Amino acid sequence: MAAPVALTIFLLILLPAHHALATAAGDAHPGYADTETDTCGPALDLGGSSSSAGAAGRRYGPGLEEYGGGRIVDITHAFRPGMPAYAPGATVGPIVRLKESMKNGSDYNLSELSMECHIGTHVDAPGHFNQAHFAAGLDVDTLDLEVLNGPALLVDVPRHTNITAEAMESLNIPKGVRRVLFRTLNTDRGLMWKEGGDMSYVGFTEDGAQWLVDNTDIKLVGLDYLSIASFDHACSAHVVFLKNADIILVEHLKLEYVETGLYMLHCLPLRLVGSDGSPIRCILIK
Ligand SMILES: *[C@@H]1O[C@H](CO)[C@@H](O)[C@H](O)[C@H]1NC(C)=O
Ligand SMILES: *[C@@H]1O[C@H](CO)[C@@H](O)[C@H](O)[C@H]1NC(C)=O
Ligand SMILES: *[C@@H]1O[C@H](CO)[C@@H](O)[C@H](O)[C@H]1NC(C)=O
Repeated sequence: MAAPVALTIFLLILLPAHHALATAAGDAHPGYADTETDTCGPALDLGGSSSSAGAAGRRYGPGLEEYGGGRIVDITHAFRPGMPAYAPGATVGPIVRLKESMKNGSDYNLSELSMECHIGTHVDAPGHFNQAHFAAGLDVDTLDLEVLNGPALLVDVPRHTNITAEAMESLNIPKGVRRVLFRTLNTDRGLMWKEGGDMSYVGFTEDGAQWLVDNTDIKLVGLDYLSIASFDHACSAHVVFLKNADIILVEHLKLEYVETGLYMLHCLPLRLVGSDGSPIRCILIK
């Protein structure tokens, strides 16, 4: 979960009028300037041809993002201004900006990165909701790469409910499964493509988190919107999970059109010393 963000800068809104807004972007980083129409719209298969890479092939839109003829699926959201942030209606502001630019006479273009550590596809470190773990130095740089990389199950959560104890039990996840990506109603509702945070998203309730801790071997928990925990249990569910310093939470995954089943998951956070969170790149390999 990210701290509430009160940014009201709408530099770029993907749907539906991004062309109109492209000019308003003005000095925006060139990487933000051209979200092509052909990468937006529902159910667009962006996969297969990385030959269309470059500005025209920018992979911003909803849809499956495949490489290598479908062998690799990217389940990371592009970090872009305008994506939802964790507060009702909140959006993320500019993320990278040109600090030096050739257009302004510099010999090179040099971008600068500035963002909260809990926006976009990211990982929570134990210290995010646990002061003892934070004080003990359990930052993102201490996360176990062995947990972040290995066989993972992608499951569909029943759509009529948050992830309660009952919902968890109904999933019948076998003992021994250590990494699970939970796809929910959030994906069906296309929440990640809506403007502004929607706090009616689905996530774990406190009893759902407790059930997972008590009854499964799951050490990596992934979910498809801003927070692993439902809004009403934003703190309590995080507290239950992160009390266990060996459980890793990955939030904001892009799970559209990916078939359920078993994959090799690879997730690599940045080595941000002292941070309770980090952007992360996650891919699935078939
Ligand atoms: C380039 O120069 C203009 C005019 O001084 C300024 O407004 C703009 O922010 C500069 N951009 C970069 C990337 O340096
Ligand atoms: C440098 O940035 C400018 C925008 O200021 C862009 O037009 C140009 O293509 C960039 N050059 C390179 C080499 O990326
Ligand atoms: C999940 O819980 C949130 C509040 O935390 C609520 O707004 C939402 O309607 C619930 N969703 C479902 C499907 O029960």
